[in-house]
Amino acid sequence: MSSALPATDGYRHTALTDLFSLKGKTVVITGGARGLGLAFAWAVAEVGANVAVLDLLDKPHEDFYLLEKELGVKTKLYRVDVTDYEALERTFDEVKKDFGSIDHCVTSAGVPKDKPFLEHTQADLRSLLSINVEGTFFAAQFAAKHMKAQGTGGSIVMIASIAGHNSCPGKSVSGYCFTKGAILAGCRALADELVQYNIRVNTISPGYILTDMTVANIAARPTILQDLPKNIPMGHIGDRRDLKGAIVLLLSQASAYTTGTDLIIDGGLVAH
Ligand SMILES: NC(=O)c1ccc[n+]([C@@H]2O[C@H](COP(=O)([O-])OP(=O)(O)OC[C@H]3O[C@@H](n4cnc5c(N)ncnc54)[C@H](O)[C@@H]3O)[C@@H](O)[C@H]2O)c1
Repeated sequence: MSSALPATDGYRHTALTDLFSLKGKTVVITGGARGLGLAFAWAVAEVGANVAVLDLLDKPHEDFYLLEKELGVKTKLYRVDVTDYEALERTFDEVKKDFGSIDHCVTSAGVPKDKPFLEHTQADLRSLLSINVEGTFFAAQFAAKHMKAQGTGGSIVMIASIAGHNSCPGKSVSGYCFTKGAILAGCRALADELVQYNIRVNTISPGYILTDMTVANIAARPTILQDLPKNIPMGHIGDRRDLKGAIVLLLSQASAYTTGTDLIIDGGLVAH
């Protein structure tokens, strides 16, 4: 072995439970009032993180209020539209004041649009771009600014989609696909630029996971329910809990050597 390689200290490294711990860390989650965002909130709170949720909704799902009660972590809901640049920046400043630090950020706020490509209007595309791309971009930027100022590093996970990898059989979501592709491409650029501040940036690409968003999609196009399982190698739609391990992995020190990558959780759909 070359002497230029770093020395190792045997095999008795940090315990796995410590690597996966987020104890005392602050995680900001956009779109965390319900759906995948709230599932992420539960996952990180279970490993000790305090959670600041940023969302448009006045009233989050009732389980949001159980986080503090059942897991003993600090939580707070901030009502903000991620497309409002000034309000979003102010909200990140408030979180820093309220929680003392911003250590991790998950950008889960996002919307779909099931409409034929030939019928997408400029307003449709602008709305998708401003929520899914601009909202993600600036949430990541404001989080990274705080992490840089703190000098403590951090990690960011942006929620993309299999729609950034594939067409979505049975649906017409071209505008949505454009936005999720942008997040995947942007992740690699952010990972490259922010590594100097010890900030890691990764994405998760969920497949079809049952949330309010999916329920609304199915209501608008009931055939999805019959068609989808045929296209998914595992034969069924995913559940919110299927993403819990992934978010803790990518935010925590368990993935300390991972940046600029995408984790696909889709029952085998993209690989198929
Ligand atoms: N559910 C799926 O099957 C699936 C698959 C792939 C990707 N995704 C992505 O995962 C993310 C979460 O999806 P979900 O299924 O939990 O959807 P959801 O609709 O259940 O939850 C989205 C949350 O984002 C919030 N939000 C929307 N626009 C906002 C805005 N402008 N400002 C602030 N908050 C806003 C909503 O109020 C809601 O609480 C989205 O980015 C979505 O594209 C979901």
